[in-house]
Amino acid sequence: MDLQQAAERIEFLRKELDRHNYNYYILNTPEIDDFTFDQLMAELIGLEKAFPRFYHSASPSQRIGSDINQEFQQVAHKYQMLSLSNTYSEEEVQEFDQRVRKLTDEDFEYVCELKFDGSSISLTYENGYLVRAVTRGDGQKGDDVTANIKTIKTIPLQLKGDYPPEFEIRGEILLPFSVFDQLNREREEIGEQPFANVRNAASGTLKLQNSSVVASRKLDAYLYYVLGNNLPDDGHLELLQHAASWGFKISEHTRKCRNLQEIFDFLHEWNIKRKDLPVATDGVVIKINSTRLQQELGYTAKSPRWAIAYKFKAEQECTTLISVSYQVGRTGAITPVANLEPVLLSGTVVKRATLHNADVIQNLDLHLGDVVFVEKGGEIIPKIIRVDLASRHPLNERVSFITHCPECNTPLVRQEGESAWYCPNETGCPPQLKGKLEHFIGRKSMNIDGLGSETIDLLFQNKLINDVADLYDLKGDDLISLDRMGEKSAARILDSLELSRNVPFERVLFALGIRYVGETVAKKLARELKSIDRIANAALEELTGIEEIGQKIAESIIIWFNNDQNKLLIERLKKQGLKFEIVSEQKLGATEKLKGLSIIISGTFKKFSRDEIKTFIELNGGKNATSLSSKTNYLVAGDNIGPSKLGKAIKLKISVISEDELLELTN
Ligand code: IVH
Repeated sequence: MDLQQAAERIEFLRKELDRHNYNYYILNTPEIDDFTFDQLMAELIGLEKAFPRFYHSASPSQRIGSDINQEFQQVAHKYQMLSLSNTYSEEEVQEFDQRVRKLTDEDFEYVCELKFDGSSISLTYENGYLVRAVTRGDGQKGDDVTANIKTIKTIPLQLKGDYPPEFEIRGEILLPFSVFDQLNREREEIGEQPFANVRNAASGTLKLQNSSVVASRKLDAYLYYVLGNNLPDDGHLELLQHAASWGFKISEHTRKCRNLQEIFDFLHEWNIKRKDLPVATDGVVIKINSTRLQQELGYTAKSPRWAIAYKFKAEQECTTLISVSYQVGRTGAITPVANLEPVLLSGTVVKRATLHNADVIQNLDLHLGDVVFVEKGGEIIPKIIRVDLASRHPLNERVSFITHCPECNTPLVRQEGESAWYCPNETGCPPQLKGKLEHFIGRKSMNIDGLGSETIDLLFQNKLINDVADLYDLKGDDLISLDRMGEKSAARILDSLELSRNVPFERVLFALGIRYVGETVAKKLARELKSIDRIANAALEELTGIEEIGQKIAESIIIWFNNDQNKLLIERLKKQGLKFEIVSEQKLGATEKLKGLSIIISGTFKKFSRDEIKTFIELNGGKNATSLSSKTNYLVAGDNIGPSKLGKAIKLKISVISEDELLELTN
């Protein structure tokens, strides 16, 4: 492909990908399936890599994020980012209306819009390109998070239509509830503190140093405020409609209101309907529509006189505390849970509420039989916010945190400065052992196909496994002896265990389930220190010298590797052939088994990510092809491969192989 052809193809691919992104994320009417989209994207990335002179900051390929760490630059806001004054009652809204009417004689309209509960952002566009994205910060200056913002598919990198040459647009970055639930499940699984609410999760994500992790979190954005000179309209709502035509995602639930009654109708309607939205809202913002009148009314020191936020009341109910139970997590952390008299709250029956830790119980001064108020606010899991002291019976017994593990009776410990109590019996406490096994076999860890938590439970109960190294000693007969386990399933598990010996070191490290060593930390450690021996022997300073590894994580790593049982476990796993170092490029490349072969990968894979497979091909001397042709030697087919691609490969007589067969080629 010559330069001219590459330029044309890149241009074509960028336009197509932008169009499909817009159709999918903004209009919700996708024209092509994910797989075809990924193929187009892979082709674009390949071409941009081969022809770096065509780099463009607004290319859709920039949305994938990168592993490069970024220190955020502080940037001064051109227009201050003020907040809104809050009201909690309709009377206060009425007072706001009266205040405004005292300041102007002219007739005007309001606009009511949803108040999104996320993290606010200011985007600057110049000549149709996103040039900067800055967080609110202290209102005067904020962090430049452009690289992270580019990963959000609903934020256009390049505008369409008739946009002003220079303007700012503000909005809210949101983490949809569905992503939040999943994210918190994953965090809890790996012993990380779950995010308390979607707002924290959204702002925490925006501040991540690694934009490829941000990309994986699937943030969304609604824009609600256009600022600049020579804007195409005086009306705020009309400006938002213009912004929609330039490619921005604007809430469709914004409405013009002419009087208080219409405003109240909007408040009542959305107090109910908001519960069905996929993202969090915490109120309604009422704004004067005319931007000219907005300017005339101006600002107080803190907020505009032309707008006000009406906050929804978090739903509360009162019920009785029956008992407190204690759950033991994989890392031994004890979580107290309140068992309540069932009560209806926001449309669901609530029977349990989280109490988080011992401090929460103490601060509430909780007694059994107490009448308590439960609330479901931004948080998904209800919590107890208050105790009705007046109705407490004098004989109610104070809730005192347990001193021994409810599962294995070991005395609990608490580290200084931490709120959680732990059961220290890591190698003997059943839920910890089972939790560790489940974590080890998980998709993001060793990805042992065919083994689920039920089988783990059976193996554990039958004393066939106690720790993760025992998995590799399992024989076919051990598995077949289990209830409902056929020969085929047993063989699948054994194959899968065999294959897991190829799982890269960083995932093995994550799979060990060391407290606070999540996916990102494991990756960092593996890449910096390269082998388990160096990690095991690293001094505190060496560990804390690595980016994103603080004192707490470093201490936890040291404690883990000082434990004799853990040392033994590593030795046993080493003997089983698991990867405990980053395999150097030369070592892998030495086979040159794939030399001269043009290989294309397609679909999603079980053992490795697409990037890992591509690297594997290159390291073994092969070439990653970007499109199928008669010159392609192999098509490595994963799940969900498109039928047309498969058909083409067959027609061209290209060998279609699996991920495992690819690995075998290098043996
Ligand atoms: S307008 C001059 N509209 O609420 C103020 N803000 O306390 C311009 N927010 O910092 C903001 N939804 O993060 C506006 N539809 C909406 C909003 C909204 C959420 C947030 C925003 C702002 C805070 C106000």
